[in-house]
Amino acid sequence: MATDTAVGVDSPGRAPNLKPNLRTDNWRKSPILTFLGLSAFVLYAAIRTTSQSAYFVEAYHYLSPFASPCLSDACGKAAEFGTLGTFPQLFPLAILTLPFLLGFRLTCYYYRKAYYRAFWQSPVACAVPEPRGKYTGETRFPLIIQNAHRYFWMAAVVVSVINTYDAIRAFHSPSGFGFGLGNIIILVNLALLWTYTMGCHSCRHITLGRINHFSKHPVRYWLYQQVSKLNGKHMQLAWASLFSVVFTDAYIALVSSGTISDLRFIG
Ligand code: FES
Repeated sequence: MATDTAVGVDSPGRAPNLKPNLRTDNWRKSPILTFLGLSAFVLYAAIRTTSQSAYFVEAYHYLSPFASPCLSDACGKAAEFGTLGTFPQLFPLAILTLPFLLGFRLTCYYYRKAYYRAFWQSPVACAVPEPRGKYTGETRFPLIIQNAHRYFWMAAVVVSVINTYDAIRAFHSPSGFGFGLGNIIILVNLALLWTYTMGCHSCRHITLGRINHFSKHPVRYWLYQQVSKLNGKHMQLAWASLFSVVFTDAYIALVSSGTISDLRFIG
């Protein structure tokens, strides 16, 4: 129903823009924090993935998640899965997996909400008018790519398996088995990556989609319930896993560069 506060002519099927909005809470806070958090991550990740430095601690086999799997000839003992040649400067060492991880996060249902609000103001918050009067949704290029999220999820599961291998390899010291603070940091990061990945909306559908009788599929139903529990914390896990990747990489960079020493418990 049109009101006297309607702005212009809205797209067919959309509620009219109301101006000013009627919200009295601090609705700007969340998009501003999201903008700052995601911008900081993108800046850090861009610097670290293109620096090709301090990503590996050979003595303990700590490998940064930003460089896994390490595929350049320069990786040395970090190259667990072979190499693709010598990479030009500024090329990410994990050139094969990082694009999929980027696609996975970009198409995530939670992150879509976050950056649509924080960067595109589309809309900036519920019941707040957006600057554009037209809406085309995710039905045309480039946003139609959002519909490929389930395939990015599959790629992310493969990368999580690789990260798990890295975590196991990190129980290492020059004399054999080893265990230090770095292992704890890597394991916490791994747990957050897995719980974020398995709490994905697509994973929820994969575990129990297209089924009419839950009782006939008790194992899938149980899996669905576990995934749904994680899904309920998806936003928190999205942020926790994002920052844990940064923290893990930063710790490995500090140890690798000799700025600090790893606190060793064994080996
Ligand atoms: S919905 Fe967030 S990872 Fe799939």
